[in-house]
Amino acid sequence: MELFEKLTRHAKNYKQRIVLPEGTEPRTLTAADRIIADGIADIILIGDPTDINHMAKELNLENIGKATIVNPADEAVIDRYAPLFFELRKSKGISMEEARLTTANHLYLGCLMVKAGDADGQVAGAMNTTGNVLRAAFQVIKTQPGIDVVSGAFIMLLPQGSPFGTDGLLVFADCAVVPDPTAKELAQIAVSSALTAHDIAGVEPRVALLSFSTKGSARHERVDKVIEATEIAREMAPGLIIDGELQADAAIVPGVAQTKAPNGPLSGRANVLVFPSLEVGNIAYKLVQRLGGVEAVGPVLQGLAAPVNDLSRGCFPEDIYKTIIITCNQAISLKGIA
Ligand code: ACO
Repeated sequence: MELFEKLTRHAKNYKQRIVLPEGTEPRTLTAADRIIADGIADIILIGDPTDINHMAKELNLENIGKATIVNPADEAVIDRYAPLFFELRKSKGISMEEARLTTANHLYLGCLMVKAGDADGQVAGAMNTTGNVLRAAFQVIKTQPGIDVVSGAFIMLLPQGSPFGTDGLLVFADCAVVPDPTAKELAQIAVSSALTAHDIAGVEPRVALLSFSTKGSARHERVDKVIEATEIAREMAPGLIIDGELQADAAIVPGVAQTKAPNGPLSGRANVLVFPSLEVGNIAYKLVQRLGGVEAVGPVLQGLAAPVNDLSRGCFPEDIYKTIIITCNQAISLKGIA
């Protein structure tokens, strides 16, 4: 079954509440309308109700009336969530007045609703930058236990018949968030990516930490970092099939693995590729996507205590629709309800 067929069915079975802070944005509203029509999630829109309803009418959207609308100009809304934000940030020296102002920011309000248990996940970024979407999530939702770094994975869907990964599916990370991870952060990215591979992509993870060296073929401090990260990841997740440091060909081509890393657990059949820096990860996913005609699904933000996903400002309603489905699945697996 296609990946999105499976994810859609799962989302419908365990219907989640997804908050969309860019509630008046036309592509977001179009996607929300389709999500409601398809019975995939309950939608919460943040924005002025008059503006939202006006836009829905202009776009001929018939299901937006079934969404919950939360108006950040409503004092009662600010009264409900500002104390939570104040609690979360008082150690940083913010005042209640500042907390109230920040709570009125749609991106923060959505995250506060998730934190308070009034929503299960957030999708934003059609109008806001990645940095703004991420910062609100970092400050309010924070990370899962045992993880202190959030990262971004792409699920790469290679053309049918591809011999790589698991039936042509690979997870690439970090491609979106952490510019220059430490060994410990890289290890956490590897463990988070394995979870994404298992819970969202539906494959048994086989994780490779990539480098320009395979098993000591080159010596450099950057190689040492990947070796150390592999050791830390093994301690964090003892049952995980993981190896490093490996060059990309030794990770994904069995014949090359036989020559370069003959005793490794991956045997050239890695399906999760962890890149040593954001430069490599971001460039690699874009090149594979464009040169290989590969569908890149994501970024799927991983490591947060509850799911928040970021959109590209050039996104289409279809991208938002799919991101909502992924977010529902992340919420379901984080809650352990399926
Ligand atoms: N995971 C968890 N928390 C984090 C992370 C992280 N990766 N990074 C920062 N934080 C936390 C900090 O601990 C801090 O928390 P605190 O306020 O409670 O102390 C807070 O977030 C702000 O930290 P700053 O260091 O001030 O972070 P800043 O806001 O400068 O930057 C950001 C964070 C925006 C994510 C930055 O790392 C960034 O710009 N990354 C690159 C994003 C990007 O442009 N990606 C490429 C485009 S996406 C694409 O192509 C798919």
